[in-house]
Amino acid sequence: MPKRIFSGAQPTGNVHLGNYLGALRNWVALQHEYESFFCIVNLHAVTIPQDPKLLAEKTRELTRIYLAVGIDPDVSTIFVQSDVHQHAELTWILNCVARMSELERMTQFKDKSRKSENVSAGLFDYPVLMASDILLYQTDLVPVGEDQRQHLELTRDLAIRFNRDYGDTFRVPEAYIPKVGARIMSLSDPTKKMSKSDDDPNGCVMMLDDADAVSRKFKRDVTDSGTEIRFDDSRPAISNLLTIYQLLTGKTSDEIESHFAGKGYAQLKQDLADVTVEFLRPFQERVNGIGTEQLNRLLGQGREKASKIASTTLSNVYAAMGVVGAGTSE
Ligand code: TYM
Repeated sequence: MPKRIFSGAQPTGNVHLGNYLGALRNWVALQHEYESFFCIVNLHAVTIPQDPKLLAEKTRELTRIYLAVGIDPDVSTIFVQSDVHQHAELTWILNCVARMSELERMTQFKDKSRKSENVSAGLFDYPVLMASDILLYQTDLVPVGEDQRQHLELTRDLAIRFNRDYGDTFRVPEAYIPKVGARIMSLSDPTKKMSKSDDDPNGCVMMLDDADAVSRKFKRDVTDSGTEIRFDDSRPAISNLLTIYQLLTGKTSDEIESHFAGKGYAQLKQDLADVTVEFLRPFQERVNGIGTEQLNRLLGQGREKASKIASTTLSNVYAAMGVVGAGTSE
């Protein structure tokens, strides 16, 4: 069987530079080496309340974004999670394998539930749905940002436990977390990751931001003390900016440091804004150029391809557990 990758993003809010540099960029790079599945995870999105009309719109927008960053539908499968009912079904089964105590340890759940008074059971169960996404496709590798590491460990634990209790059924996946860019930080607070739920909208550069917004956000970016422009772990703000610059230009750290030698923060911010705008312009043109018909055709093909694999895995799971119904011979 070819080696597979699976990954996904939530169609909530807007896709930001952190999502791209930490995850989507690597999907594009890996898609030619692996059989690839990229999912728009709308069932994860509803673990916190969403405006129905907006969620539907954002689901289609995220599909356009996948295509515009360079996911090639001729080699990769793009589909919407709710189109393949096996994701929800396998979640039920894995709910019966996962333990409350291990879900209680999930740091993303702890962070997210702290922000809300009415925490849904779905939010608690979010990592189990994510494990189902991954395990349904017998995935080898899961390219994600650093914040998903713990969810990947849980996924592996659930696969190993199921295989031990019911026989070899799931491939045990590995996380692919890039060395550079796995945790892009907020521009307004470099101790926090860049996030769409950031209280300060200036901390987060959106992939659909216009040139003015991009420049404004980089200009307002907080800086740390010291004037030298170089990679330095003890100066998180500057290191974050240089990391973004490095990933967008493809230059080495030495090249970047010598380019900025003798220059100040203002120059770095200006250059970074220019590089980002140059990167986003053709990307945004591609987003706007993808028509409704093309999108529908593509998601239909994606649903078909994904459903076949998902249904085989789920049948194997049910058979392994003795979950059988009508039409089964004695
Ligand atoms: P989402 O939509 O929150 O994030 C999508 C991807 O972006 C990465 N990411 C970042 N990377 C670097 N720096 C940041 N500041 C940053 N913020 C976000 C995330 O790590 C993620 O890879 N739970 C997933 C969605 C999901 C999924 C899956 C992923 C559902 N099922 C199965 C892989 C496999 C998530 O966080 O989406």
